Amino acid sequence: MKRIAVLTSGGDAPGMNAAIRSATRTALYHGLSVVGIHRGFQGLIEGDMFEMTSRSVGDIIQRAGTILRSARSSEFVSRTGQKKAIQQLDAKSIEGLVIIGGDGTLKGAKALSDCGVPVIGIPATVDNDIPLSDCSIGFDTAVNTAVDAITKIRDTASSHGRNNVIEVMGRNTGHLALAAGLAGGAEYILIPERPFDIRNICNGIKEGYARGKTHSIIVVAEGVWGYSAPEESRNESIGFIIGRKVKKYTDLETRVTVLGYIQRGGTPTVRDRLLGTMFGSKSVDALIQGRTGEFTGIVGEKFQMFDIKEILISQKPINDEFCQVAALLSEM
Ligand code: F6P
Repeated sequence: MKRIAVLTSGGDAPGMNAAIRSATRTALYHGLSVVGIHRGFQGLIEGDMFEMTSRSVGDIIQRAGTILRSARSSEFVSRTGQKKAIQQLDAKSIEGLVIIGGDGTLKGAKALSDCGVPVIGIPATVDNDIPLSDCSIGFDTAVNTAVDAITKIRDTASSHGRNNVIEVMGRNTGHLALAAGLAGGAEYILIPERPFDIRNICNGIKEGYARGKTHSIIVVAEGVWGYSAPEESRNESIGFIIGRKVKKYTDLETRVTVLGYIQRGGTPTVRDRLLGTMFGSKSVDALIQGRTGEFTGIVGEKFQMFDIKEILISQKPINDEFCQVAALLSEM
């Protein structure tokens, strides 16, 4: 292998730049040339690429976002789009790809690898919903951002004696909500993986006040109702819908905060920089060894490679022990 390319696709995640930097420099170290592809699969289809040097990735390890930029490409989903992408790779003599992103991106990586292109994926999403790996790049930074926000909201919640509903990201999963809620000391954490009855939650809140609590924090994953989300949630953040119900059933002053895109920005934490750096380097090692159709991951402190097809057939389970402790603490 003499020449590889790197792309980022889907929602950006803090630490992607660390992965781009590490993959690029590892490849250059081994004598490979490296091409940066702009705007993910869409840029690949359009041939939006440039030659990278070690300097192209200087001074980016501390920056969130992605210097390669990102996009969600509907064209790449089709066979025709994928064919165009492969033609571009052939035209530019690119023999292998490092693809960085979330589940949609890694499914795209699998499609290319099924067509015979050597591809290694790197999981990067604040949702942390990629199975098998403990962590995806970006999750740790997003959890810290969310906990910082919860801590600030807690200050004003206790001054005013209010319920505060805080909506965090998580399109179909509650990993971010669960970790942020537990670390932020939330009274209740509402996630799609654990069905709940809003009236029971509200009774619990009222009992908490009766025990002497002065406020309550309810952390909600944006995808809490999954596919059974009410019609109104198409036009309104789920946090506001939950907030209205909490106000109605507790009859207590209730405020809502939707954290939104601040969770995707901010300087990456040490953990995300380390994950990005290690995943980037390991992905290039794997390509050089002739591997394809795999993605990098970490289990405990051990870096591992997994088959991308697992992403199509399995879901990352929610941390059951976190749920149990969160439920226990909400009673106190
Ligand atoms: O990056 C993951 C995620 O933030 C989800 O939690 C969210 O639903 C989605 O991406 C929104 O991303 P965008 O608006 O960029 O499509």
